[in-house]
Amino acid sequence: MIDLRSDTKTLPTPEMLATVTQAPLGDDVAGEDPTVNALEAHCAQLLGKQAAVLVTGGTMGNLASIYSQIRPGEELICHRQAHIYHYERGGMSAVCGALVRPIGGEKGALDLDELADTLAEGDLHRQRTGLVCLENTHNNCGGTVLSAEHTAQVAAIAREYGVGVHIDGARIFNAAVALGVDVASLADPADSVTFCFSKSLGAPVGAMIVGSEELMKKVREARKLFGGGMRQAGVIAAMALYSLEHNISRLADDHRHATEIARTLAELRGIEVDLATVESNMVYFSVLRDDINAPGLCERLGEYGIKAGARNDHLIRFVTHLDIDDAGCARVCDALRAVLG
Ligand SMILES: Cc1ncc(COP(=O)(O)O)c(C=O)c1O
Repeated sequence: MIDLRSDTKTLPTPEMLATVTQAPLGDDVAGEDPTVNALEAHCAQLLGKQAAVLVTGGTMGNLASIYSQIRPGEELICHRQAHIYHYERGGMSAVCGALVRPIGGEKGALDLDELADTLAEGDLHRQRTGLVCLENTHNNCGGTVLSAEHTAQVAAIAREYGVGVHIDGARIFNAAVALGVDVASLADPADSVTFCFSKSLGAPVGAMIVGSEELMKKVREARKLFGGGMRQAGVIAAMALYSLEHNISRLADDHRHATEIARTLAELRGIEVDLATVESNMVYFSVLRDDINAPGLCERLGEYGIKAGARNDHLIRFVTHLDIDDAGCARVCDALRAVLG
């Protein structure tokens, strides 16, 4: 089967799994797991930050980062389509007490004028802004990529108000590869960044938060509060280290495959796809035909050994990843032509 539903569907390879049996282990809650310590040090260095904290996944990474930088009643500014706003159980309000102020912007970037107008120092009546959050790549906007320049502009405006910036960088390595830049340049303007090992990097579990020593001390305390302290977590860290070593540069293949699939879709009758938003490993498209709708197309693709999921009657998201090679990509394009041509 070719699974286009998400890059979270990948399974660890035998080589990745083999690293677990070789990894030195210890109690990570006490800071004694050598493999976790090595992974955290490596990630801090890779992203150009002082320190890093391993967490279970992206949602906990975002939650611990937000919890550590905002006080109850303060405002959190994010994009209207942000993952933290739509798909993380409202944790930033439920757990952190943040009042969320979603704003607009093209392709997942924040509208800088709206950002400047929304930021507030706070006074007797108006609550202050506590944090600005970005997402890179931006899932709901199509896997779109935010540049280092945009991140720096956002951070500069936020700093005028003494406000920090967090990046939900679940797929920040996709952004770096798509732009052809060092991932540290994308992280540099932010106070904290979360990224995931279990999405496009192909590891089964885990995410990392990076930032200053001082902030990561708070994040570690938040992780403990949330029940996210893990004991011999080196079994996770070993596979995460493997994913960083082997699966970053190959992300360019996933991006090429997404573009190829998007171009195929663009040629088919009654399919609407905005090629300008296909910047990494995702393709969002609409099925606007009388003879078939989005769930119907997914069902038909199943006959060709392809798993896909519809968001509603019209919308489908495909995600490419390391379990889809050139031949797999060609199979997807052929199946689309066969069903829709
Ligand atoms: C952009 C983005 N942020 C955060 C998350 C949450 O990650 P997790 O599912 O590991 O909690 C996801 C999950 O798909 C995501 O796409």
